[in-house]
Amino acid sequence: MTSTTATVHKAKKHDSGIKHVSGRARYIDDMPEPAGTLHVVPGLATIASGQIKSIDLDPVKQAPGVVAVLTRDHIRGANDTSPAGTGDDPVFAENVVTFHGQALFAVVATNRLAARKAARLAKVVYEADEAPLISVADARKVGSEVLETYQFLRGEPIEAIKAAPHRLKSEMKIGGQEHFYLEGQIAMAIPGEDGDMTVLSSTQHPTEVQHVVAHVLHVPQHAVTVETRRMGGGFGGKESQASQWAAISALAAQVTGKACKLRLDRDDDMIMTGKRHDFEVGFEAGFDENGRLIAVDTDLASRCGHSADLSLGVNDRAMFHSDNAYFYPDVRIKSHRLRTNTVSATAFRGFGGPQGVLFAERMMDEIAIETGLDPLDVRRANFYGQDSRNVTPFGMIIEDNIIDDLVTQLEKTSHYRDRRSEIEAFNKTSRFLKKGIALTPVKFGIAFTLNHLNQAGALVHVYTDGSVYLTHAGTEMGQGLYIKVAQVVAEEFGIDLDKVKIGATVTDKVPNTGPTAASSGSDLNGMAAKAAADQIKARMRVFVAERFQAQQDDVVFADNKVSVGESSMNFSDLAQEMHLDRISLSASGFYRTPKVSWNRDEVKGRPFFYFSYGAACSEVQIDTMTGEMKVAAVDILHDVGKSLNPAVDIGQIEGGFVQGMGWLTTEELVWDDQGRLRTHAPSTYKIPCASDVPEHFVTNLYESSGNREDTIYRSKAVGEPPLMHGISVFSAIYHAIASIKPGTKPQLDAPATPEAILSAIASLEPS
Ligand code: MTE
Ligand code: MOS
Repeated sequence: MTSTTATVHKAKKHDSGIKHVSGRARYIDDMPEPAGTLHVVPGLATIASGQIKSIDLDPVKQAPGVVAVLTRDHIRGANDTSPAGTGDDPVFAENVVTFHGQALFAVVATNRLAARKAARLAKVVYEADEAPLISVADARKVGSEVLETYQFLRGEPIEAIKAAPHRLKSEMKIGGQEHFYLEGQIAMAIPGEDGDMTVLSSTQHPTEVQHVVAHVLHVPQHAVTVETRRMGGGFGGKESQASQWAAISALAAQVTGKACKLRLDRDDDMIMTGKRHDFEVGFEAGFDENGRLIAVDTDLASRCGHSADLSLGVNDRAMFHSDNAYFYPDVRIKSHRLRTNTVSATAFRGFGGPQGVLFAERMMDEIAIETGLDPLDVRRANFYGQDSRNVTPFGMIIEDNIIDDLVTQLEKTSHYRDRRSEIEAFNKTSRFLKKGIALTPVKFGIAFTLNHLNQAGALVHVYTDGSVYLTHAGTEMGQGLYIKVAQVVAEEFGIDLDKVKIGATVTDKVPNTGPTAASSGSDLNGMAAKAAADQIKARMRVFVAERFQAQQDDVVFADNKVSVGESSMNFSDLAQEMHLDRISLSASGFYRTPKVSWNRDEVKGRPFFYFSYGAACSEVQIDTMTGEMKVAAVDILHDVGKSLNPAVDIGQIEGGFVQGMGWLTTEELVWDDQGRLRTHAPSTYKIPCASDVPEHFVTNLYESSGNREDTIYRSKAVGEPPLMHGISVFSAIYHAIASIKPGTKPQLDAPATPEAILSAIASLEPS
């Protein structure tokens, strides 16, 4: 069937694009404040681990402008903001401190500056533990775990590695990442009648914020309404970690009876909120002379911080992706989830997947050095294939594998082979500057592995002038979800896109939602909105068929008209006439992802609905004297099925690549041995800037007949997978370093900062 769509599959601009760049998009801090709005600032713990002996808040209370100082004693409900209600993420720490920067109390004042000044005046006496657990190694030494070790095991990997003709044993460190959303964490709570609370929250998960606020305030969920119009970026950092700030602002509103706003200062935001998990990976592999794997044994250890938060899902996803695009015949994947006295690590674009994929790609690069083969040939020798070579380490059969074709196309269009030979020739004669190139694939599983999250709802109203109001479970964080779902609704009704108004995400319009995460926003909400539109369309069909004495099935929605045969009427006239005939023009839709199931205890089932694929080819140059690195070029080919909106999808792919490149090159988090984050501002934490983006930057969408699974207009999720294209940069840097001493494996950890590059170069020449 050839597609004859009018609105979907078309490049439509982001609905807020012009507002974003002209400063007119309203974020919570731009919203008009109700008269008498108060401002809330948290007070931070100054030790990483220990007991609170006493707190003297009198100086805080007496500071100018202070209206109230909130502590645990003000909380009528639970002192907990944890996503799963596990109780380990207190609103305010009680008696014990578990990380440096943990909130102890909050100041409510007439303005933010007064609150900030007052928050510093608390006199806290601690009994600090001598040796807080900061690093993965610290925690492993004493067996400090947040969650139980978990593993996938197939065959007899240990024996198979021993018997293999070639073997390697290696390890690497993978750094974490700060989300650096441009709009920091913020919430504004507005008290209503009867203890009701409306909370404007910059969150990916309005329903969870509603639950946490209700729990903390000790009110029923129906008393709390959470609204999210847009976030200035979330990237996973507002999946669970927006709740605490919403809860504190709501608590302040409950106590003072006034509207209360809490916007974290940037340094506090970086200190107090979780980041990507950093990992220490150890691995062994057995392979043949073609570089084809016989067995893999890997050990993934992550720093989870002081509480569980989303660490179960994140670490599971790291395991699910530690195969990336490769078949591991005999395999063990072991995951350790370590508890440390650092801020709780959380979701970050890819949700653990990128760390797993980076391990797999590093293993490919090392096998290439051991065998002397081109790394792309090693990769290709290990791609998932047919028959017995299509089963993942967790037993899921891959049915939609396109990786070989996709990589073959990119290999040609990027001229990978020619460029690699040119680079090898260049490196032979260039003494200080070395170049590197790498082409790395990505395969990413789409669905929440926590099954009940795979659902969404939508609400659609048609008004009597034919304009349409749409709202759904998904939140907008810049990724273009709102416009995609609006395109679906416009397409379904056959009306112009500007006839569809996209309403904020609000818990009293669409209830009981999951987070906007796991890249599944458009898959879930597109389908839910279609289900709502379908119901209204069914009523329209009945009406029109009756009016024109025709068959319901022959009714067509297109060009702002509803037609059957020769007869037609304007969509707006139809709405008006149906209203006069007392027919409802409103419907709520619901969708649940089919086919998915996952039994974690038995390591059995199908955790993913389908896979998204892509590949990137990056070229870099390093200066071996200074460690400086420049990405010269990148070519990306990425699979989004049949794109709902190619403009938005290409934007996601480019942005994802740059964010992944930042993670693996310049973005470095440093905690000192007292658990203080030393990199808590852009002065010490470097995200990519415009000049870091390669001059040659080509992104193409993989052409196909679309998702083989029945997704919304055969599209595929796009949000997270492209981040992993940044791994091609890391791999290219590895190549550049390795060219210094062919046949020797450099010890390169991520991020590949100039310091890490120099240290990897030094690792080639043991002194
Ligand atoms: N793109 C922008 N501009 N801002 C964001 O915060 N978050 C990413 C990705 N792309 C993000 C983004 C993450 S972590 C996810 S899970 C998806 O968008 C969520 O949106 P989706 O499910 O609609 O793709
Ligand atoms: Mo994205 S890490 O699933 O919010």
